[in-house]
Parts: sequence; structure tokens; C-alpha cells
Amino acid sequence: MTNLKKVVVIGGTGLIGSKAVKLLQDAGHEAVAASSRNGINAYTGEGLEAALTGADAVIDVSNMMSFDKAAITDFFETSSRNLTSAERAAGVRHHVLLSIVNADQLAANPYMAGKLAQEEAVVSSGQAYTIVRATQFHEFIETLAGAYAADGVVKVPDTDFQPIAASDVASALVEAALGEPKHATVDLAGPERAAFESFIRAYLAAKGDGNPVIADAAVDYFGASVAKDSLVPGGQYIKGRITIAEWLKA
Ligand SMILES: NC(=O)c1ccc[n+]([C@@H]2O[C@H](COP(=O)([O-])OP(=O)(O)OC[C@H]3O[C@@H](n4cnc5c(N)ncnc54)[C@H](OP(=O)(O)O)[C@@H]3O)[C@@H](O)[C@H]2O)c1
Repeated sequence: MTNLKKVVVIGGTGLIGSKAVKLLQDAGHEAVAASSRNGINAYTGEGLEAALTGADAVIDVSNMMSFDKAAITDFFETSSRNLTSAERAAGVRHHVLLSIVNADQLAANPYMAGKLAQEEAVVSSGQAYTIVRATQFHEFIETLAGAYAADGVVKVPDTDFQPIAASDVASALVEAALGEPKHATVDLAGPERAAFESFIRAYLAAKGDGNPVIADAAVDYFGASVAKDSLVPGGQYIKGRITIAEWLKA
């Protein structure tokens, strides 16, 4: 008897997916790096049946970056329906979805509305699942700093933040996929909670960018108004290891 498994990583060529594939392979498991570019398309269903044959688990970290609510909702909902029904047909034991902390409270943000629809498609599918909701990645801070910059000032929401390194996210997903389905949502966050602006400031300082960073209660999170605790887990959560300082140094 071997405990080595076949795990299909949907979005296995992306930021998180490529790290999850490597972790699985380094541990001796068979990992399929599934993506539309290599003929496995969660949205159209192309290549799913063959990819899922003999698979024990699926990790879904596919992504479409859009703020068009209808398009993003259609992408995530349709992909999740296709995946979970193909998994059930193939006898796959466990579906693991990566979502975002407090996606349900932030649904005025069109991307979050799409993630919520994706979660709901998984929960209602009848497939055994675990939903891992992560906070924003360290790797996403650059995008945030750019998005909130205007006229030499970076004005960000006045909220707490607890970002996590992509490699910590990949580890948590692999651990979840190799474990039993929780039929529930678990939160995942980085090791440090502090003001949003402090992480943006640390990132910009490391890049030699001295532009001022200011917290402003009037600034929203891409369409969703936020309170202090909107972007951080409210209860128990899995904690990543890598601090922003360690990540910036690496
Ligand atoms: N950014 C954050 O801070 C954050 C925080 C929490 C959770 N998340 C979630 O993390 C997930 C992964 O993000 P990421 O940054 O790793 O994404 P990414 O680097 O943009 O990678 C996306 C992957 O999805 C694949 N893909 C896209 N359409 C597909 C399709 N129809 N079928 C199969 N594969 C498809 C892409 O490959 P092809 O183009 O070849 O298809 C690529 O491999 C997302 O779902 C996001 O919501 C992000």
C-alpha cells in the first residue's frame, strides 16, 4: 500500500498552483499542473475527464482577473460546476477550493461576488470539499500599492491587514488536499496583523519608493466599504509562517 496520491491542480501553472504542484511532486505525489494553456479547461470542460482519471483530490486555484461582475461570476460558477461534476463522475475523493477571507462580507466588490458564487457552487455540488479562505498574498501588495496610488500619494483603506506568502498558501492547500474533506470553510492568514498602510509602506520602502502612504476611512476595497476587521479572519484560522520582512528580504 502506498500513500502517494494523484492530485490535479487546476491553475497549476499560476502563482499558487505552480508552488502546490512542486510541493506535491517533491513529496512523491503525482501532480497534474492543469491549465487552459495545456488543454485542461475548467470553464469549457475540455480535458477534464482524462485529467481526473485516477485522481484522489483536486485543488482549484484557477483565476480570472476581472471587475466585470457578470463575467467573473460566470467564470467561477461555471468552472466550479464543471469541476465538481467531473470529479463526482471520476470518483475523486476531495475538492479543495482557494477563496478569500470574508468574501461573503465584501460582495459589493465584483471580484468577491464571483468568489462567493464559486464557493456556493462547490457547497451545493454534492462533492466532498474543503474551502480555504486566505487573506491577500504578500505577492499582491505590489498590485494594491499601484491601485491605490494617485498624484504621488498612496491612499489606502483604514483597515487591518494580515497578508500571507504564496508559499504558505500552497502548503496549506496541499495539506488540506491530502487530508479529509472538512465540508466547511477554514480561514488562513499571515503571521502578523497590523494596519493596511504599514504593509504598503514596508513594501514601497523596500523598493526605494518614498511616496507617502495614508489611511483614509473614505477609501473602499474595490467597491466594498470596509471596517477595521473586514480583511482579516474573525475567528480561528491557520497561521502562515513567513513575515513581510522575511518575504521582502528573500
Ligand atoms: N491575490 C490574492 O491576494 C488572493 C488572496 C486569496 C485568494 N486568492 C485566490 O487565489 C487563486 C489563485 O490566484 P493566483 O494568483 O495563483 O492566480 P494566477 O497566478 O493568475 O494563476 C491562475 C491560473 O489559472 C489558470 N486558469 C485560468 N483559466 C483557467 C481555466 N478556464 N481552466 C483551467 N485553468 C485556468 C491559469 O492558466 P491558463 O491561463 O493557462 O489557463 C493559471 O494557471 C485565485 O482563485 C484567487 O481568487 C487570491
